[in-house]
Amino acid sequence: MNSSEMNVLCVLFVLCISAIAVQGRSKSPLLDEDGARIINKAAECVFGSQVRELGSSWVPDLGIPIGVLYCMKCECVPSQRKRRIVARVQCRSIKNECPEPSCEEPVLLPGNCCKSCPGDNYSEEVHDVVPQNTMEEEERNTKHYAALLTGRSPLVLRNDDMKPIINDNKNNVVATGRFTFQKKNLYFSFYISDKAARPRSLQFVDENANILDEIVLSGAGGIVNSHYQNVTRKVCGVWKRLPRDYRKYLKEGKLYAVLVWGVKHQSEFMLSGKITKYVALSTELFSSLLEPAPGTDPVMMAGAGGTAIVSIWTATPSIHIAIVFNGVFTAEEKSNVTININLSLDEKKVIYNETLKIEKPAHELNVVEIKSSLTTNELKHLTKGKLVLSISSISHPTALKLSGNLMTKATCELFQTTLSSPGNNNYGTSGLAWLFLNNDGSLVYNIQVDGLTNQQQPMYITLQDMSTRKKTELEDLTPYYRMGWANGTVDRIFPKLLDPLYSGNLAVNVATQSENSLIRGKLSPRLVAEARDASAPVLLKREDYSLPTSAVGMAWINVDNDCNIHYDVSLTGLGSQERQLELYLEFLPMIAPGAPVLYRHLGEIQGSQVEGSPTEALRYEELNRLDSGVCFIKVKESHNRNATLLAATLKQVKVPLTCLPHYTDNDVHILYDTEVPQGGACLHEGRFFKEEASWTSTQDPCTMCYCQNGNTKCDTSTCPELHCSNNMKIKNPGECCPICANSSAPRDIIPAGCTFGGKFYSSGSKFHPFLIPNGFDHCTECACEEAEVKCTRKGNEKQCCRNCETEAMRASENGTYLGDGSRTLLPDIVKPVKPKKNVQQILLDGGCKNPADALSPFENGQKYHPFIATLGEFKCVTCKCKNGNTKCERPNCTKALCQKFIKSHRNHSLIMGTPESCCSLQYCRRYRRHHKPYNNKS
Ligand SMILES: *[C@@H]1O[C@H](CO)[C@@H](O)[C@H](O)[C@H]1NC(C)=O
Ligand SMILES: *[C@@H]1O[C@H](CO)[C@@H](O)[C@H](O)[C@H]1NC(C)=O
Ligand SMILES: *[C@@H]1O[C@H](CO)[C@@H](O)[C@H](O)[C@H]1NC(C)=O
Ligand SMILES: *[C@@H]1O[C@H](CO)[C@@H](O)[C@H](O)[C@H]1NC(C)=O
Ligand SMILES: *[C@@H]1O[C@H](CO)[C@@H](O)[C@H](O)[C@H]1NC(C)=O
Ligand SMILES: *[C@@H]1O[C@H](CO)[C@@H](O)[C@H](O)[C@H]1NC(C)=O
Repeated sequence: MNSSEMNVLCVLFVLCISAIAVQGRSKSPLLDEDGARIINKAAECVFGSQVRELGSSWVPDLGIPIGVLYCMKCECVPSQRKRRIVARVQCRSIKNECPEPSCEEPVLLPGNCCKSCPGDNYSEEVHDVVPQNTMEEEERNTKHYAALLTGRSPLVLRNDDMKPIINDNKNNVVATGRFTFQKKNLYFSFYISDKAARPRSLQFVDENANILDEIVLSGAGGIVNSHYQNVTRKVCGVWKRLPRDYRKYLKEGKLYAVLVWGVKHQSEFMLSGKITKYVALSTELFSSLLEPAPGTDPVMMAGAGGTAIVSIWTATPSIHIAIVFNGVFTAEEKSNVTININLSLDEKKVIYNETLKIEKPAHELNVVEIKSSLTTNELKHLTKGKLVLSISSISHPTALKLSGNLMTKATCELFQTTLSSPGNNNYGTSGLAWLFLNNDGSLVYNIQVDGLTNQQQPMYITLQDMSTRKKTELEDLTPYYRMGWANGTVDRIFPKLLDPLYSGNLAVNVATQSENSLIRGKLSPRLVAEARDASAPVLLKREDYSLPTSAVGMAWINVDNDCNIHYDVSLTGLGSQERQLELYLEFLPMIAPGAPVLYRHLGEIQGSQVEGSPTEALRYEELNRLDSGVCFIKVKESHNRNATLLAATLKQVKVPLTCLPHYTDNDVHILYDTEVPQGGACLHEGRFFKEEASWTSTQDPCTMCYCQNGNTKCDTSTCPELHCSNNMKIKNPGECCPICANSSAPRDIIPAGCTFGGKFYSSGSKFHPFLIPNGFDHCTECACEEAEVKCTRKGNEKQCCRNCETEAMRASENGTYLGDGSRTLLPDIVKPVKPKKNVQQILLDGGCKNPADALSPFENGQKYHPFIATLGEFKCVTCKCKNGNTKCERPNCTKALCQKFIKSHRNHSLIMGTPESCCSLQYCRRYRRHHKPYNNKS
């Protein structure tokens, strides 16, 4: 390590010890250099470009030039903010925790913080304490939970301002939730009373009602973007990546779900309930939301409700119902209370009517289970949602009663498959299918068949039970087939369909006159959330014809309300499962020629199914093109990204209005502030130009433009005075300024001239240099003389230039620009930190190496702030390069700053970037000493 690096490190160390307080959600200090947002949740920390789980700890790697700080330990810790628990990064020095070495000459092993003795097998506990990517075995298994959400929860709920919420649930709204824990994610779904609007948000809270995470469910005005949720009236979603502590709460029954109505910061009312495991959930096929029945006493039943978890056995047939409920007891009924449970068809034909005794009625939750046999006919009525379950008090049968229809299971799920032929089929016919059960029990289906020729018509689409030898045909879906699609609804499904559907044995089959099974696919269940909440998936078709015709895929692409993109891709027929594939989005330009094609790597595909969302949010330009441009989704092989295996055109991706530029809502300004359009951002005279590019206007050679932060800026030059001996001026085409006609230089030989700033100037022409971002520098006059550009500053600064940048002045200190025929000085003036000058030359001239970027050394005399990859520019330290040596220093802190620093250091609220954050404990101690005598006296 050379001395300059040493210097920076020492300075930084002082700061690190004084605690780097980086808050989990805030974007500032750890934002990517290019301004892209990193997606993370309240229960996650972001450090550098990595997302860390709550409860994890790591040794910080600050990247070049600092590297790994082995004596620092960072942790992602929970922090209370009013009612919320948010994750934040806390880093501290662990040097003091080093054990005393037992030998005379301990050594410091590489990668360690503490010195140890040779032979000691003391090893330091470093790196992730909670590994980021391994999953405990039990977390791999799918687990089911449910919750009854009523106004009778023991939780005391407060608004963000900590005032208790006046729970104004006038209409006795009730809700019930189902939760599926899968691979660290908790998928949720709710049935909510019809009389309630869609809730604004869902909060997951702990036993003290602290908000662990909040998920917004509807946009302004209760808008639902999801087609599935709209038609099923379910509320669906997922809480992703639960940290270990919260997974523990879930397991121990210490996690609550809270649905919130009202507007932001102003809740109207809430429903809450504990998320609990019920055995019956693993076989649930139908659910019910039990609400106060018509004619009941609204006061006695305030906040009451229930839910039923229904399993059926179609072979017997019989029904099993677990009922979770409250509210059918009077205040006096404290033990051994009898209630009536009734299951009937349209409130008339009774299927089950029994009295049950509840030993200890609870105010919040009671559970009973019943079993009954069913006739085949009753089973049919059940699948159509015609059976009503009610539960009532014996003492007050009309005043205290809950009832509800048994309907399609509350879980948000759909069934999907790709359609392909097992071998090669001549025409390369392929397809996809997805279907779901509506809450009235009807089956909604969408089937796409692609590449079917006229000779193959007519064709038949059926649902087949693959568990039987005969492959029984259960439904004929052909009638609605037109233009490559069969979209429709089966109102009355056979109960026989449910078993194969839920057990993964139901197939969609396409047959023609000559083939019983041209293409086919078995439907598999998927939870509806994120990508699969899009209105429709797209068919990924072969682009590479060397692949078998059976190669096909389906992809769901969705953009959520936070403008994050989600994908889910399923592939079949690609052969080897070991194939390393990559998923890309490709955005074509649509407005003007010359705009670059944008690519976005979405993720890797291993195996046949993959879902996810890139940690980095989509940029403005990409969202815009996704909404209204031409986009492709492409599957490529990792080792050859030029060749596309499968591709689909994305036409129907709905980007929420809030993610698009034309939207003007208060919530959106953040997007505008942080997002700078990337790549090909400037449109001028019908052409696209990259960020930082400069060009000459095609209309006027005297106008130069450049692209800055997506804005085109142009400036027009006036030509310097030209005194020609013979008074003969001529202007070459494409050039702004004239030259003196010189009879001794025949013009039809190679035009002599200079190149300056990427532009050609005829020999003898005079011009003003064009400086980004200031435009033409009218203080400077350049002339192209014998292939060399010579520039001179004009006299009085004040007179000639109003807005001269100091940089520009300094660069032309001795009054001369030196042009060597190539782009030389221009970039130096524009970007002093990144000279395009010869690296070797700068170093020879007394410049200093830039540890962060070997190609951009610092010039002799240059002052700069060290740049640390994860923290950005480190403003507390100023470095100066002088004669090849770097010297860095930190300004001293004033007494007032020190007081501020110590105060915020004590309560861990130090914020990076504030003046006091540049102070160090070591330095500020001097002020404390002064205080001591004073304190002693008092
Ligand atoms: C939701 O349903 C309503 C009424 O049925 C309909 O007008 C609206 O377009 C639907 N929205 C979506 C996103 O499907
Ligand atoms: C409730 O009934 C059970 C037996 O059915 C009896 O053992 C118990 O004492 C009763 N409790 C009360 C409070 O009456
Ligand atoms: C159900 O049983 C209760 C008590 O056992 C009885 O009062 C009621 O009339 C029965 N209801 C029907 C519809 O048979
Ligand atoms: C069927 O539904 C899909 C997906 O919603 C849609 O793209 C297609 O146009 C529909 N086709 C017909 C014929 O209705
Ligand atoms: C991919 O295309 C680029 C540019 O077209 C080419 O330079 C490169 O060699 C190609 N790579 C492969 C593996 O074909
Ligand atoms: C300007 O400075 C350069 C190097 O810094 C030097 O080579 C050149 O001679 C100077 N020009 C004049 C006119 O002083």
